[in-house]
Amino acid sequence: MIDISDRIRNEDLKSKIVSAEEVANWIKPGMTIACSGFTASAYPKAVPLALAERMKKDPFQVNIWTGASTGPELDDALAAVHGIKGRLPYQTDKNLRDDINNGTVDYLDLHLSESAQLSRVGYLGKIDVALVEACAITEEGNLIPTTSLGNAASYVQSADIVIVEINTTQPLELEGMHDVYIPLDPPNRLPIPIVKANDRVGTTYIPCTPDKIKFIVPCDIKDHTRDLTPIDDNSKKMAAYTLELLHAEIKAGRMPKNLLPLQSGVGNVANAVLEGFVEGDMTDLTVYTEVIQDAMLDLIDAGKLNFASGTAFSPSPAGMDRFYKDVDKYKKYLLLRPQEISNSPEVVHRLGVIAMNTAIEVDIYGNVNSTHITGTKMMNGIGGSGDFARNAFLTIFYTPSVAKGGKISSVVPFCSHIDHTEHDVDVIITEQGIADLRGLAPRPRALEIINKCAHPDYRDELLDYYNRALVETKKAHTPHLMDEALKFHTRFISTGDMRK
Ligand code: COA
Repeated sequence: MIDISDRIRNEDLKSKIVSAEEVANWIKPGMTIACSGFTASAYPKAVPLALAERMKKDPFQVNIWTGASTGPELDDALAAVHGIKGRLPYQTDKNLRDDINNGTVDYLDLHLSESAQLSRVGYLGKIDVALVEACAITEEGNLIPTTSLGNAASYVQSADIVIVEINTTQPLELEGMHDVYIPLDPPNRLPIPIVKANDRVGTTYIPCTPDKIKFIVPCDIKDHTRDLTPIDDNSKKMAAYTLELLHAEIKAGRMPKNLLPLQSGVGNVANAVLEGFVEGDMTDLTVYTEVIQDAMLDLIDAGKLNFASGTAFSPSPAGMDRFYKDVDKYKKYLLLRPQEISNSPEVVHRLGVIAMNTAIEVDIYGNVNSTHITGTKMMNGIGGSGDFARNAFLTIFYTPSVAKGGKISSVVPFCSHIDHTEHDVDVIITEQGIADLRGLAPRPRALEIINKCAHPDYRDELLDYYNRALVETKKAHTPHLMDEALKFHTRFISTGDMRK
């Protein structure tokens, strides 16, 4: 077994070191296991892998709660053996997605800022065990987190039993990079005292006590973060439009020269937008976001970032190596908080965040679908997009104007599912252009979206729909032909191509 004794600063706790297999055999069918992990960062790895092995011989299911998506050693390994019954609050795994969409898994798709509170107050049922990755355990039994915080601190607080995976691939230098603050629940909640992205308001560890810790498991499996994909042309165009828009905001006196704190979703467009800032002329930027990726390291190296606060540090493997080689330098610029704080509506609103997230589709009035393919199949989940979109100073949604090689228009008359209503969406950007919806009533908004953002292949049909709806409803507030509203989707479902 890997030697982890130097990472356990409480002598008595060393007697609790066991193998992952021993813990997997202790887990009972139907248990709710609340895990650390947010993206492919800081999720438990050794125990889920051992549990999946046991489930291969002895099939059963458990409920898995996390911070958000995780790496393959957790979601993929357990979904591959159909070992997950209940899952919350977000995921991105293909096997798991299949099980969610074939009725095997009950998936609760929750706002990421709310999941900790919902679990603490008991709406979701009881946590049987918190399974948490840590760098080290202090003399007092507190846990030093690794590359994300997610919901780990809240789960540890709620659980009677805690199992800790000590991951020896995570350097001890990570200690100090966290700020753990768990709000009191209503009616005792106080204001979260964060007024700047770099304010520290909590502890550098997850509070825990030795008596809660039942097992400690050594693990030497690295975070399975993803390689960066090359930035495609559409994303580059959307990044350029973003910089154009933000320069105009500065010129109009609505934002300072160094902007307001940036929040950016994950994926190709988000990367391209942040890389756009690396090339751009703005300096002294701050970031108040969920996930800190490679582009933040680039911004630090380019001398353009003052500070980035998030809940997960999830760069590519190359980005991780770069970070580990110079932890002391990068640590000064980065802070990880519980997702309840990184995504807190209160803090996002106070700081005046610029929220930049990706949609699956948008409709001509500005409603956004972030989660469902053609209305029924779950893709990933709402993630933090709702936390930021509703509360930001400026809310931007991105989508390429078409998907599936042009067979689907991402601008449709009526979204097949709505996660973000027109009331929360300020700007839509596609590779075709920028639709600035601020101050526009529904009718002019429809024309702005169709003319600026729809793909030319679909523009005439969308305009025709809008104009007929205008006549039919006698210029109603939000003109729609209700029997036709989802025609684009039904056509795709029956022919595989919206153009047919
Ligand atoms: N209609 C049907 N399918 C569509 C579509 C549309 N309008 N737009 C995209 N798709 C399909 C793609 O074809 C792709 O399918 P595939 O997996 O079979 O190839 C899939 O949806 C994902 O599209 P892709 O372009 O690869 O997505 P992405 O990596 O840019 O992610 C979201 C886009 C919306 C799925 C992703 O950003 C997400 O999950 N968002 C919600 C959570 C969030 O915003 N998190 C950040 C908040 S802080």
